[in-house]
Order: sequence, then C-alpha cells, then structure tokens
Amino acid sequence: MTSFLTDLICARCGAHHDADVLQGVCGDCESPLLARYDIEAARQAVTPAALPARPFTLWRYEELLPLRDRRFRATLGEGGTPLLSLPRLGEQLRLPGLSAKLEGVNPTGCFKDRGMAVAVSRAKELGATELVVPTAGNAGGALSAYAARAGLTARVFMPADAPVSNIAEARATGGEVRLVDGLIDEAGRQARQVAEAGYAFNMATLREPYRIEGKKTMGYELAEQHDWQLPDVVVYPTGGGTGLIGMWKAFDEMEALGWIEPNRRPRMVSVQASGCAPLVAAFRAGHEDSIPWTDARTDAAGLRVPHALGDFMILKAVYDSRGIAVAVSDREMRDAQVQLGHGEGIYAGLEGAATVAAVSKLRDSGWLAGSETVVLFLTSSGLKV
Ligand SMILES: Cc1ncc(COP(=O)(O)O)c(C=O)c1O
Ligand SMILES: [Zn+2]
Repeated sequence: MTSFLTDLICARCGAHHDADVLQGVCGDCESPLLARYDIEAARQAVTPAALPARPFTLWRYEELLPLRDRRFRATLGEGGTPLLSLPRLGEQLRLPGLSAKLEGVNPTGCFKDRGMAVAVSRAKELGATELVVPTAGNAGGALSAYAARAGLTARVFMPADAPVSNIAEARATGGEVRLVDGLIDEAGRQARQVAEAGYAFNMATLREPYRIEGKKTMGYELAEQHDWQLPDVVVYPTGGGTGLIGMWKAFDEMEALGWIEPNRRPRMVSVQASGCAPLVAAFRAGHEDSIPWTDARTDAAGLRVPHALGDFMILKAVYDSRGIAVAVSDREMRDAQVQLGHGEGIYAGLEGAATVAAVSKLRDSGWLAGSETVVLFLTSSGLKV
C-alpha cells in the first residue's frame, strides 16, 4: 500500500463517497467527485527531500495518488517533463522570467497521459475491464494507449473532424474509434449511453474522480522544479479544465503538507479560443458558472469544449487566485506557434501556443509586470495534427 487516499467528496454538495468502489459522479447531485487523502499520515511518510531519489515520473508522488497497489500501475513513463526558461521569447515579450512546462514530451505527445495513466490504473485496480471516453482527440489517444498497456479495452468517441493523428494513434493502440457527427458534447452523450447500458466504464473528463489526480501532478512538479516556491503566474489553455483544477488542488494539498508556503499561490490564467470561450464570457460577467457556447469553432481541437462540467471549479480557482480568463484568436495562436518555434526551438500544439499569445496580450495591457515569473503550459507537441 502506497496511497494515503481516504475517500471521495462531491465538489458541489460535499457528500462523502467510498473511494474503493468504482464510481463516476456524485449520486446525489451528479457533480464531480474529488479524492481526499490522509495528509497528516502522508506528511509523516514522505518529505520533499525524499523525492529526488525517486524516478522522475508522476508516480514520484505516489502517496498523494489514488492507486493502492503498484502492481496495477499502467505506465509508459509519463510526467517528469522539463521546465525550461524561454529567454529569447521572454525578451521579445519583455518578460525575462518566462518559462514553459513541456508536456509534449509525454508518451503520446500530450499531457492527457497524466490523467489517463492514473485513471486507467485505478479503474483496473477497482475491477473495470472495458473503458469508454468522449474526446476532442488527444484524450482518446491517451486512453487507448494506457488501456492497451493495462490489458483493458477502450472505446473512443471523437468528432469526425478530430485531428487525424488522434484517430491514427487511438486505432494503432487498439482503441475502437467511433467518429461522431458533432463536437465533444455529442461524443459525450454517445459515450454515456454506452456506459449506462453497462458496456464500459465512463472515463470522461471529471465524470470519474482520478484523471484529475494524474493531472494535478503538473502542480507538484511545478513546485518541485521551482524549489518549492511557485511562480507568480501560471498560464493554462483550458477546455474541460482538469489541469487547472488539478493544479489548484495540488496547491491545496501541498499547503496542507507544509511543502509550500501558505498564501503564495500563482495567479491562474485560463486561456480559451475566441471561437469557443464560455469561461472567458463567464469571467467577464463575474459569473460562477458558464453558459454552454453555441457554434464552437477553433482549430485548437483541445479547446473546442462548449461546456465544461467543472466550470464552477475552474472559475473559482481563477477568482480565488486573482487570475484572469482571456481569449485569443486562431490567427494569434498560429503566429505565436511560429514565434515559439523560431525563438526557442519548441514546436508546440496550438493549444499551448495560445498561452504565448495570451501572455503577449496581458503584458501589453499591463496585467503582467515585467518582473514577474510566468509559466506557460505547452500541453502537446505540434506534431499532433
Ligand atoms: C493539447 C491540449 N491542450 C489543452 C487541452 C484542454 O485541457 P483541459 O481539459 O485540462 O482543460 C486539451 C484537451 O483536449 C488538449 O488536447
Ligand atoms: Zn453532490
């Protein structure tokens, strides 16, 4: 036993649920469930000083992950990604403290691996054999890969116009791909039917409690790579928002563990595409929930999410951190992708490139000061098109 997992708690109504039973959303209010840990016991068991001796994958933080028995670990070496400073781009943007977390070096070229490695491992430990996921694209490739690695089956529902690399990688790793006429919300509806008919366990974003646990390791790594001092600002391209919510949860846990100083959190910047920006609209209106976006259009497939189940958690993290939500156009993302490639040699996916475009705007508007440390999340490789 390596995990200090205790139970699950509903993010909306606060009801407690058994963590050792395979389950999805809260049975009372259908909101996301979040994992909780015995932080006091974990604090005794592991300290930051013990971490460097462990392999640098996300499993380094195993006490704060839900998997109880390492034999169920389905790993392809995910996590442990580089945090690189971006001096040339930083000079162009008048932000010398600019750096980036390179999530494109994960096994399927995308940060989705973090969530799927942990959630697939845990689903297997709890007895699941067949998994299903609706996806904008990248999560389908990641689910197929980790399901194959775990010896489970995967069904993937994705828009018919999802990136061809996502369709190819999902099929190449044994996923049964269904192309749907519509966006991720329609894929979600079809995946839910399969799950409700009892054919497979639903791995949709925040409809099971453990993908977010894998994603939160971005927050642990960020702190560790910054010598347990978090940067002033974190910039994250947001679709379903699991990464942002996950990092905010990691900050909560690390504060409780005494690994980071209290009240020194980064301001969280949520970046969306101007053709699909429900969270930006909600932020501008000062709302706590978002209104589903109609006619979502953007070439950044991962940002083509008209409605996030965890919208209220994303917005809360943005408000509580004194952050901001900003939209950038596809044109701005493409220009930023070129600027990042030419300036730093990093070919990032459009979603990650959106963070560069957002920072450029925020620096121009004065929201970002030149003296601040800013970390961009480059969530995928530019090869995933
Ligand atoms: C490359 C990429 N970046 C960002 C996102 C958005 O991630 P999240 O759902 O954590 O907001 C996605 C989601 O599909 C993605 O594929
Ligand atoms: Zn509830």
